[in-house]
Amino acid sequence: MTKPVIILGIESSCDDTSAAILKDRKILSNIIANQEVHKKYGGVVPELASRAHQQNIIPVVNEAINQAKIKKEDIDAVAYTKGPGLLGSLLVGGSFAKGFAMGMKIPLISVNHMKGHILAHFIENQDSRYPRFPFLCLTVSGGHTQLVRINDFNDMKIIGTTLDDAAGEAFDKSARLLGLDYPGGPLIDKLSKNGDIKAFQFGKPKIKDLDFSFSGFKTSIVRLVEKGLDSDKDFVKNNLNDLCASIQHSIVEILIEKIKIASKKENVKEIAIAGGVAANSYLRKRLDEESREENFQIHIPKFEYCTDNAAMIAISGLFKYQNNDFSSQSEVSSSRLLF
Ligand code: KG4
Ligand code: ZN
Repeated sequence: MTKPVIILGIESSCDDTSAAILKDRKILSNIIANQEVHKKYGGVVPELASRAHQQNIIPVVNEAINQAKIKKEDIDAVAYTKGPGLLGSLLVGGSFAKGFAMGMKIPLISVNHMKGHILAHFIENQDSRYPRFPFLCLTVSGGHTQLVRINDFNDMKIIGTTLDDAAGEAFDKSARLLGLDYPGGPLIDKLSKNGDIKAFQFGKPKIKDLDFSFSGFKTSIVRLVEKGLDSDKDFVKNNLNDLCASIQHSIVEILIEKIKIASKKENVKEIAIAGGVAANSYLRKRLDEESREENFQIHIPKFEYCTDNAAMIAISGLFKYQNNDFSSQSEVSSSRLLF
């Protein structure tokens, strides 16, 4: 029997400090320290994020190793997020990973955060259900909205992207307009459960092919709220659930429509979603409905592997490890790392 491979994954691209231990494709631990400090600012403050990563990184890695019940000497390689993300945040995880790899004399592996979100689908799961190649993945997070065709672990192509805001940003900015805390996506999701999706209508962006646009969305919400306030000074409060449900419905329908076009164009029925917005319960429900209509095979990662986490970095690291695709100590983190 071949010896299992143990990988330490490090993720620090935005406002979560995370470390995970992976044994072959099985996650032994996945520790995530959220940064509460940003809440009062209504969005992530890059400088505060870097500082919080510095505070968190060692305790988070220690906890990941302890929870996995391994010794640091058991680790075969360390994988870290090279980009895209906030540069100051990336540098903290990257520098830690380099130091750890050098100190332990083990290989260093750099991972693209967006590819990490996609490869999270290959973490061992109970029903052993994984996407089959080729598949399409809608990666929707606070910073990105991409449709990707995946031919193999190391062969992916972006076939659609947002021209302005990301889907998560559309959720967060809408929430902010309604006076909700950051990040607003999960709150909109929760409040929508008691709302009517048809209460309010928003214009649909007319974007060709597989690209997305969400910036006009914010303007239509501002207009709607302004109009509402003319006749009711508590318009937002009195209609909060309906507003959330209608906003969520509009964003999700844009995503579903593009998935359907992509599936036809690429002739692929194997469909996956990834990234923080993939945690949205209404998107999951709509995708499930569409899968029956359109004969899609749907893949949605476990909730904890949707938002930013180091488990997805560790599994991406494993595929690179198997290809002997290692990084050098002089590799540089990149906020705008392309695919
Ligand atoms: O992937 P992620 O954790 O971080 C980035 O790489 O951006 O995604 C964070 C985004 C935020 O915009 C957040 O509001 C959104 O994912 N999000 C959600 C939900 N949970 C997280 N959006 C809608 N519904 C949710 N349940
Ligand atoms: Zn992300």
